[in-house]
Amino acid sequence: MKKIYQPSTGEYIVYNPEFIQSPEELDIYTIQSDLKSSKNTQRGQASFFELNGLPSVFKHYYRGGLVAKVNQDKYLWTGLTNTRVYKEWELLDSMAILKLPVPVPIAARIKRHGLFYSTDLITQRIMNAKPFGEILKTISVDTSVWEILGKLIQTFHRHGIYHADLNANNILMTHENDLYLIDFDKSRMRMKSVTWMNKVIHRLQRSFNKIKSSHPGYHYSPENWQALMRGYHS
Ligand SMILES: Nc1ncnc2c1ncn2[C@@H]1O[C@H](COP(=O)(O)OP(=O)(O)O)[C@@H](O)[C@H]1O
Ligand SMILES: [Mg+2]
Repeated sequence: MKKIYQPSTGEYIVYNPEFIQSPEELDIYTIQSDLKSSKNTQRGQASFFELNGLPSVFKHYYRGGLVAKVNQDKYLWTGLTNTRVYKEWELLDSMAILKLPVPVPIAARIKRHGLFYSTDLITQRIMNAKPFGEILKTISVDTSVWEILGKLIQTFHRHGIYHADLNANNILMTHENDLYLIDFDKSRMRMKSVTWMNKVIHRLQRSFNKIKSSHPGYHYSPENWQALMRGYHS
């Protein structure tokens, strides 16, 4: 669920009314600068903090690839509903309706800079969770979990949800072995096709192999991958 508040020309706050009653009190600039200056727990581009007592994750959108060298965080403006964050939010809402395990969006800020915009997203933090790819650096995970992970990816694919960057660290696992998928920038609902589904699966496999190549003793084996694929095809 989302509402839109426009604090000034060229600035939009998208917010989840379940968590935010007065968007005019939500000061994302202050949140962002506080996070930059504090020794906040940071993982990749994301920072953990509390929003009115609610464990949350703040993420600024950065460009990848070659463009990033000249333009770190500005995207071409073609309307609010076309922004990266707006699309990610809509996808997160659709997945929540399907009861898929993904983060709940809390707020987003979109700021125009002439022809461009920059953007941030705040989601609810999944507590007691770590990236799956990190967990395997220290412990091994039961075959049953690998199968459940495969089954989970199958469920996303069955609903036509294409994850644009499904790697080992965009899967979170909680203390109770519950699994979540995160980081849906550029992801979308897509006409189902084995071609993109296989690409997603191969990308994930490459990411496990890549970590393993630089971490001797990494708890990832061909048997683990077979278990994942068993779950995926079940
Ligand atoms: N909703 C969330 N709950 C808990 N941890 C999260 C959440 N979103 C992100 N993280 C943590 O932050 C890391 C980076 O976030 P992510 O959205 O994957 O951004 P990126 O990979 O682009 O830096 C994740 O690997 C995870 O450890
Ligand atoms: Mg990520």
